[in-house]
Amino acid sequence: MSYITNENMGLQSAESQMVSRFENGTLGNIVSHNYRAAAVLERHGLDFCGGGRTALAEACQQRNVDLATVLAELESLETAEADLPLEDPAKLISYIVAHHHAYVRSSIPVIQAHLAKVAANHGERHPELRQLVGHFDGLSDELTLHMAEEEQVLFPCIIALAEAMRSGGPLPPGIFGTVQDPIRMMEIEHKYVGDTFATIRALSSGYTPPADACTTYRLVYDELRALESDHDRHVHLEDNVLLPRVVIGLIDLGLLKRRHCQDVGGLL
Ligand SMILES: [Fe+2]
Ligand SMILES: [Fe+2]
Repeated sequence: MSYITNENMGLQSAESQMVSRFENGTLGNIVSHNYRAAAVLERHGLDFCGGGRTALAEACQQRNVDLATVLAELESLETAEADLPLEDPAKLISYIVAHHHAYVRSSIPVIQAHLAKVAANHGERHPELRQLVGHFDGLSDELTLHMAEEEQVLFPCIIALAEAMRSGGPLPPGIFGTVQDPIRMMEIEHKYVGDTFATIRALSSGYTPPADACTTYRLVYDELRALESDHDRHVHLEDNVLLPRVVIGLIDLGLLKRRHCQDVGGLL
């Protein structure tokens, strides 16, 4: 990768090579490689616009920020999907929450701040920016609520179901009714969020900034594109990997007839 600059890399362990990749990279190059890194750097007050040519380690020192914490957060963005625990619902849920939910939560305030700034400075010439602010606020509220419902209601039920399937132990009482409604709600909310992203994409001409766009304008379009792309992978894991396993589990436990699968979204 372009921001690997340590000449002694050959003497280092694989783990330290991975760390050095970020440590010696400049803030600008790290964000260019992965726009999701922008939220991490901003959260720690590391300026990748004005200070884009500063190495991460140096920037952390200047701002008195813990380098190891920033490196750990950057590394967590790089988890390969090939390593995902697709067969284990509990582990997959942990991954979804730690990776996708955390990313959405950290991105929302950053994108809202950037959109507000760009709309204030460019809204006169580009009125669609003010519409984008409203649509993104609605999207943010929906996503925040949706993730909380998954974490507090649906995911614990799925983990209990998976554990009962694994151990042959008893299910918590009434789990079918408990799972069925949040699954329906989840699918409705995924559709709403997908439709809102489509509206935002259309208003931004496919996240294409105009010729007179400033750095923040270009950045926020990249951040929105990255958030939608992340959301697509997030929903794919929930709709196409996690939920079919729930339905199969319900059938195996005799709680659902295959012909009634449309009751939980036609998942099979
Ligand atoms: Fe989710
Ligand atoms: Fe979801």
